Amino acid sequence: MQHASRPKILVCFGTRPEAIKMFPVVHALKAHPAFETRVVVTAQHRGMLDQVLQMSEIVPDIDLDLMQDGQSLDALSSRIITSFGAVLDVERPDRVLVHGDTLTAMMVSLACYFRKIPVGHVEAGLRSGNIYAPWPEELNRRVTAIIADLHFAPTQRARQALLAETIADENIFVTGNTVVDALLETKRRIIADPGLATAIEPLLKRFDGKRIVAVTAHRRENFGEGLTSIAKALVKLAERDDVAIIFPVHPNPAVSKAMVPLLEGIANIALIEPLDYPNFARMLDASDLILTDSGGIQEEAPSFQTPVLIMRETTERSEAIEAGTARLVGTSEAALVAAANQLLDSTSEYEAMASNANPFGDGNAAHQIVQILYERHFPGST
Ligand code: UD1
Ligand code: UDP
Repeated sequence: MQHASRPKILVCFGTRPEAIKMFPVVHALKAHPAFETRVVVTAQHRGMLDQVLQMSEIVPDIDLDLMQDGQSLDALSSRIITSFGAVLDVERPDRVLVHGDTLTAMMVSLACYFRKIPVGHVEAGLRSGNIYAPWPEELNRRVTAIIADLHFAPTQRARQALLAETIADENIFVTGNTVVDALLETKRRIIADPGLATAIEPLLKRFDGKRIVAVTAHRRENFGEGLTSIAKALVKLAERDDVAIIFPVHPNPAVSKAMVPLLEGIANIALIEPLDYPNFARMLDASDLILTDSGGIQEEAPSFQTPVLIMRETTERSEAIEAGTARLVGTSEAALVAAANQLLDSTSEYEAMASNANPFGDGNAAHQIVQILYERHFPGST
C-alpha cells in the first residue's frame, strides 16, 4: 500500500520488560509500508536492555544511554524528559508509542504532551488502585493514560479500568498483551536455533532430579523488610533436599544488598546474573514453581503451565489469580514457605494451578495494534 506521505511513528522504551513487550510491535510496524518507524531507547536499563535488543535484532535509531548506577527517580526523570524532549524537537514524529508503567513511559509521554504530539499507550489500563503499590508504577501508568489518545488494553478488565477513569470507549482497544507475542516469537527462534538457549543448561544439569524453583525480585516497595523476608523464606525452602532455587538477581544494587548476604554459599541456591530472554524462557519451562514480584513473569508463566506465587501485597494483574495460574502471597516469610510447600507437596493443588490457559493474550497483539494505528492515521482506507 503506497501513501504520499508516511506518518512517522517513534517507538520509545528503556527497560528490559518494555523492550521484550515492544519488540513484536517494532517488527510489525517496520513490516508495514504505510509507516516510517523509528526506535528511540532511553536506556534507562543498559545491560538488560541490550540483551533484548540483541536477541530481537533491533538496532535503535537513537540511543539516549541514560542509565547511571544507583539512579534516583528524580534524576532519571529529569534526564529522560530533557533528552527525549530534544529528540522530539528534531524528529517531529506524528505519533509516539510508549509501553506500560516505567519512568520512561511517563516522562516520554509528558514530553509529548508539552508538544501536543499524540501518544499511543501499549499495555494500558492495569490498576492496583494504590499509588504506592506498585510504586512508582501505578502513578506512571495513570499519568500516561491521561496523556495518551490511543489505549491498547491487554484485557477486558484493563478496558473497564480505563472507562472508569472516563477514557473514551472509542480510544480503547483490547488487543491482548504483546508479551505473549514475544514469548511465541522467542520459542520459534529457539526451535530454529537451539543454541540460543543453552547457556542455562549446565545449571539445569547440576540440579537434575530436583524440583526447580525460579525466583525473581526487584519491586521498590519490597526494598528493605520485604526483600529480607523473601530471602529468609528462600533459606527455609532450600532446607528441602528435593528443591533447587535459581535466582537471576536484578542488577538494582538494593536487590543484591538484601539477597547476597543471606543466600550466597547455600548449595541448592544459585544466585546468577540476569539471563537473556531465550535462556530465561528455557529456565521457566524447566521450572516447577515460580516465586516472583515481577509483572511480566506473572503474564508469561501461564504459557509454561507453571504456578506462580506473587511476592507482593497487591497486584494489578488479577486476571492471573482469577484464571487460577497465580496466587497473591505477599512477602511474609511464613506465608511464602507455607504456600510453596503446599504446592510442592500436593499434586492436586499443583495440577489445579498448572493446567490453566494464559488469560493475557493469544500472540496477535502486535498485529492488532498496527492495524488500529493504520485505521487511526488513514481513516476510511480499510
Ligand atoms: C525499572 C522500572 C520498573 C520495572 C523494572 C523492570 C522505574 C521507576 N522502574 O526498575 O518499573 O519494573 O525496571 O526491571 O521505571 N541496573 C543495571 N543494569 C541494568 C539495569 C539496571 O546496572 O541493565 C541498575 C543500575 O544501577 C540502575 C538501577 O539498576 O541505576 C535501577 O534501575 P531503574 O531502571 O532505575 O530501576 P529498576 O529497579 O530497574
Ligand atoms: N526476564 C529475563 N531475564 C531474567 C529475568 C526476567 O529475560 O533474568 C524477563 C521476563 O521473562 C519478563 C521480564 O524480563 O519478560 C520481566 O522483567 P522485570 O521482572 O525486570 O520487570 P517487570 O515485568 O516487573 O516490570
